[in-house]
Amino acid sequence: MPLVTTKEMFRKAYEGGYAIGAFNVNNMEMIQGIVEAGKEENAPLILQVSSGARKYANPRYLKKLVEAAVEDSGLPICLHLDHGDTYELCVSAIEDGFTSVMIDASHHTFAENIKITSQVVKYAHDRGVVVEAELGRLAGIEDDVNVSDANACYTDPSQVEEFVSKTGVDSLAIAIGTSHGAFKFKGDAKLRFDILEEVAKRLPKFPIVLHGASSVLPEYVQIIQANGGSMPGAKGVPEEMLRKAASMAVCKINIDSDLRMAFTAAVRKHFNENPAHFDPRQYLSPAREMIKQCVKHKLVNVLGCNGKA
Ligand code: G3H
Ligand code: 13P
Ligand code: ZN
Repeated sequence: MPLVTTKEMFRKAYEGGYAIGAFNVNNMEMIQGIVEAGKEENAPLILQVSSGARKYANPRYLKKLVEAAVEDSGLPICLHLDHGDTYELCVSAIEDGFTSVMIDASHHTFAENIKITSQVVKYAHDRGVVVEAELGRLAGIEDDVNVSDANACYTDPSQVEEFVSKTGVDSLAIAIGTSHGAFKFKGDAKLRFDILEEVAKRLPKFPIVLHGASSVLPEYVQIIQANGGSMPGAKGVPEEMLRKAASMAVCKINIDSDLRMAFTAAVRKHFNENPAHFDPRQYLSPAREMIKQCVKHKLVNVLGCNGKA
């Protein structure tokens, strides 16, 4: 089976009340860990590549690794550009064979966001590629995604119909209180499900995307801290909130930080227990296995997309 778009995945996920996991990938071991989990759970997958990942790994290498994953697994896999911030970047990803792109023009005015998103949609749809856009802004600091808490704002539901009808976009990322990274909430976790509900009412059967959806599993924080790391105050989105979102209109749940933490926890533990090791295969094997276990847990206990390939 070749790379697929998210069209069928989202249609079934919406009807079935579950969500598809969109996992960020940067290297071979991450791709292998995710795909092994998908194979064992017979789950459809979205592998997503940020512009930071493209700079780190070289898009050609990632593309070939993902092609190998498709061939090896036989699973429906979508290759998605995460947080494309310009028309040119989206075009370049489409030329590289991505089957889905995100144009994140949420930092522009509403009118400008509509204009840029529409241009990307036109180019993508002419080539059979689907497009995700964003309305509202998430807090959080990533390499290429940098929004201060003060600049974050919730999606305004009264804008969604106009945005979707004018752009023709295929899915929409909304801001309901999640944020990127491993430090999401200072006090209790709080998500604005009322906004999600209102958006769903205004856009019947339309797939919604949740960014910044790592749970920052305490088990990984504990392993990292017990093996020389430091992540005080790390906190993510509780799993029951993600399950609730998946049962509503959310069809795509983005997970990056949890994978980074699983990988780091395994590498730290390995070095702590085996100070003499210096063969990368010795510490990358447990890292790949930790990614696999993390993704299996998400597919079965959070997303509910196991058995849906
Ligand atoms: O939302 C951003 C993703 O976590 C990607 O992060 O830009 O550091 O690769 P990155
Ligand atoms: P996390 O940092 O919560 O994993 O979010 C990832 C994300 O939204 C990628 O676009
Ligand atoms: Zn994101």
